[in-house]
Amino acid sequence: MITQSYLADLFSLQGRTALVTGGSSGIGRAIAEALARAGARVVVVARREAELAATVEALRSQGATAAWVSGDLGTRDGTRAAAEEAAAVFGEPDILVNSAGVNLRPPLDDLTDEVWDRTLAVNLEAPHLLGRRFGPGMAERGFGRIIHISSQQAHRAFVRSGAYGVSKGGLESLARSQAEAWSPYGVTCNTLVPGFVMTPLNERLSSDPAVVAALAERTMVGRNGLPEDFAGAAVFLASGASAYVTGQSIFVDGGFSVH
Ligand SMILES: NC(=O)c1ccc[n+]([C@@H]2O[C@H](COP(=O)([O-])OP(=O)(O)OC[C@H]3O[C@@H](n4cnc5c(N)ncnc54)[C@H](OP(=O)(O)O)[C@@H]3O)[C@@H](O)[C@H]2O)c1
Repeated sequence: MITQSYLADLFSLQGRTALVTGGSSGIGRAIAEALARAGARVVVVARREAELAATVEALRSQGATAAWVSGDLGTRDGTRAAAEEAAAVFGEPDILVNSAGVNLRPPLDDLTDEVWDRTLAVNLEAPHLLGRRFGPGMAERGFGRIIHISSQQAHRAFVRSGAYGVSKGGLESLARSQAEAWSPYGVTCNTLVPGFVMTPLNERLSSDPAVVAALAERTMVGRNGLPEDFAGAAVFLASGASAYVTGQSIFVDGGFSVH
């Protein structure tokens, strides 16, 4: 039966609340916009207030219900405080997106304890702490969606950025453990895996046209990723349509990983 409401029944996020870390820039910002345009109330969390405010203003100008919380996900206390502040805005989230990340890049020979700690804190520990804070409540309410953003570096070494790949490998394992914990109660936990995406995170590489062209060549689609390439996959994983998809790492990389 062809009905007007078929797509909405599958994918609408009307009535849902989403918390998007790193929602003020790059992939996180594009995902925050996609979830908002699909109907969710969205709270974006990051550190810099000007970027957060500009993001929320842009979302509101499109008719979205959105708010921001400034917090440092590089410390346990900062993460816990940001979680409480975010949950106080529109209520406990139904959807948690962990997109905040750092890529500090020193190769293993030069890796300091400080860089190792900061990488693991933001990229792996914060997603764990936020999952532990919100996952059980989602399970109790019978619906939840946790979406992590990892990296192709969870699957292969790349430009010698040692600790980063380690953190992303751990993040995909975390998604599987979270899936095991909460999927029986309606909470799916999955990971989106980008290849090379043109964002501020990788300015060092993306500002070199020769590197950009060489990386585009390694995809099958023939170009590098853009933040908006993540919109459809994020809405799918946040919606009712993905109820039977959990513990998965889904590559959104133009074929980079299979070329
Ligand atoms: N771009 C790529 O090619 C690529 C490839 C693979 C994976 N990824 C992953 O995709 C995710 C998004 O990256 P992106 O490329 O969109 O990067 P981006 O544009 O640099 O955005 C990173 C976001 O994380 C926030 N953030 C960083 N450190 C934080 C902290 N300590 N506390 C709170 N928020 C923090 C940033 O805001 P503040 O600085 O204001 O805090 C910003 O909103 C990351 O997890 C990244 O590892 C990206």
